[in-house]
Amino acid sequence: MKIGIIGAGNIGGNLTRRLTALGHDVSVANSRGPHTLTALAEETGATPVPAGEAARGAEIVVVTVPLKAVPDLPSGLLDGAADDVAVIDTGNYYPRERDGRIAGIEDEGLTESRWTERQIGHPVVKAFNGTYAQDILERPRPAGDPDRMALPVAGDDEAAKAKVRALIDELGFDTVDAGGIDDSWRQQPDTPVYGLREGVEGVTKALAEASPERPAAFRG
Ligand SMILES: NC(=O)c1ccc[n+]([C@@H]2O[C@H](COP(=O)([O-])OP(=O)(O)OC[C@H]3O[C@@H](n4cnc5c(N)ncnc54)[C@H](OP(=O)(O)O)[C@@H]3O)[C@@H](O)[C@H]2O)c1
Repeated sequence: MKIGIIGAGNIGGNLTRRLTALGHDVSVANSRGPHTLTALAEETGATPVPAGEAARGAEIVVVTVPLKAVPDLPSGLLDGAADDVAVIDTGNYYPRERDGRIAGIEDEGLTESRWTERQIGHPVVKAFNGTYAQDILERPRPAGDPDRMALPVAGDDEAAKAKVRALIDELGFDTVDAGGIDDSWRQQPDTPVYGLREGVEGVTKALAEASPERPAAFRG
């Protein structure tokens, strides 16, 4: 499958490693340009591209940049992608440590992913946001393994969500349907499921136990 990855840091780099190893055709981008991605390209066989070209022909695009960088992404980011492209958003809002205060999230009460999809002008599927980057490399397990971790996946487009869940299964993780993007506060930072290394039962329970109130440490 053709996959575009925008952001080549902890998460984007490890998704590039795993998805190329699985045989996918991966284009990867960062902010500094393709010439700064030669080491990752040589390691993985991925194609380094400018961010504005990462989605070309892609059936899945992963947006995995710091939240504060989302408004800086090129306009027309999804131009040239497959008509039914699924866009994965791995983002989290860290107002105090990294992102600064984002009014749309704090004043309008948008979930982090709803805010992101408004910035990029395309629906997203929220996944991997509570997954340690290292776990993408180190914790995949075959289907049915009792130690297989589950990841929550939220999105409004059922077809896109199904495509993302199938990819995550291929990567070696179960998934739990966490509802739509307006429900995705259940998997934001500091919720019980965030960073949880459990299977379907534990993740389902943690999602149910989440509180909609934004914790003080995650307010700008
Ligand atoms: N680290 C984790 O374990 C983890 C886990 C789950 C979710 N997340 C979330 O996932 C997102 C990415 O996290 P991360 O840890 O992978 O970040 P990171 O290591 O800081 O990497 C960020 C990447 O985004 C790129 N980038 C920044 N601005 C860009 C722009 N305008 N256009 C294109 N690329 C741009 C950076 O490129 P340059 O280096 O060239 O600037 C870099 O490759 C964050 O929202 C984070 O909260 C992280």
